[in-house]
Amino acid sequence: MPNIVLPQTRYYGSKRKIVHQIWNIIVNEAKIEFDSVLDVFGGSASFSYYAKLKQKQVFYNDIFQFNTIIGRKLIEQNTNELTYDIAVELFNKVPEITYLNHIANYYKEIYFTDEENNQIDIYIQNVLALNNENIKCSAFYILFQSCLMKRPYNLFHRRNLNMRLNYTTGNFGNKQTWERSFEELFIRFINELNQVCIDNGRLNTAHNYSALNCPLEADLVYIDPPYFKKESTTSYHSKYHFLEGLVNYYDIPNNINFNKKNREISINESKEFEDKNNFLKDLGVLINNHQNSHIVMSYRNNGIPTINEISELLKTYDVFEVLEYNLGKYNYALNKNNLINEEILFVCRNLKRHVVVSSPENSTV
Ligand SMILES: C[S@@+](CC[C@H](N)C(=O)[O-])C[C@H]1O[C@@H](n2cnc3c(N)ncnc32)[C@H](O)[C@@H]1O
Repeated sequence: MPNIVLPQTRYYGSKRKIVHQIWNIIVNEAKIEFDSVLDVFGGSASFSYYAKLKQKQVFYNDIFQFNTIIGRKLIEQNTNELTYDIAVELFNKVPEITYLNHIANYYKEIYFTDEENNQIDIYIQNVLALNNENIKCSAFYILFQSCLMKRPYNLFHRRNLNMRLNYTTGNFGNKQTWERSFEELFIRFINELNQVCIDNGRLNTAHNYSALNCPLEADLVYIDPPYFKKESTTSYHSKYHFLEGLVNYYDIPNNINFNKKNREISINESKEFEDKNNFLKDLGVLINNHQNSHIVMSYRNNGIPTINEISELLKTYDVFEVLEYNLGKYNYALNKNNLINEEILFVCRNLKRHVVVSSPENSTV
């Protein structure tokens, strides 16, 4: 990828490492022509950001507000106005605010140390009080990315601060990363924002709909939904509830599920695309909603539903010519047991948009 810098992320399921391959298939192999992109399950915004680099008009979407803020930073906004000095100042109390201690009170010994919990409490309340939207999004962004880096497995589905604190064996690199201070990580992410915030001359926007309620349309719709393995899978909500809670800081106490060991914050929990028994039904509704677009869908070979089930569903639509590509073995970050995982790309060429030029010898007329 010469000259292309993609933002670093520890987000689970990010397509950062293969987005170049995906793009190449769409443009050079399937030869899809398009000017606008809707990234329905935007996550870390890897696909959206790549499309932005390629001068497309981009609509980013994700069900979570914290992700939508990441989308706004990387896709909607074109600059970063947050400096390191402003960022570290946000760890200090200001007289105008009466501070609450939700993280220190409710998440002691769960995800972060006492000192870090106090830092998060003050920082997040200062960020929520900011008026400058550009600085505010950047300040959220660097906190989210730093929180991910400081967590074992980069997730919040287990209360496993102990694992971080008592880690003595194995890959020492992890321990070093977990123990980096917020301040140190902020330097890295601010530098990165300065590099990756760009203007592609288009009006790009970030949205916060559930996939089935998303009213946006584009020439090409990219679908990268949650993925279920045969064993039970932790939902995206369970993986990232803590970050969604931070955006809704003042609502945290009323939304903590104390029956769950990880004290999950139930804000924006949804069954849509998070229940393997309803996945095909949800997917059918989503495809129906976008029958006027080209559709590209990422999937993996050993999931539920199976590749064949997805393929059969897509082929029921006369409007699409369905092409299937195998991107080969792909190891998701931190997932060590997936030697047989293969990344699949379905490209549904919309025949109403795509003019297939047939050569005379292929012609049946
Ligand atoms: C496989 S990840 C997408 C990863 C993304 N392509 C990337 O490169 O980071 C699936 C995303 O779908 C989001 N999600 C889950 N259920 C959703 C729903 N019903 N509507 C919209 N987004 C949803 C999750 O928050 C998660 O970010």
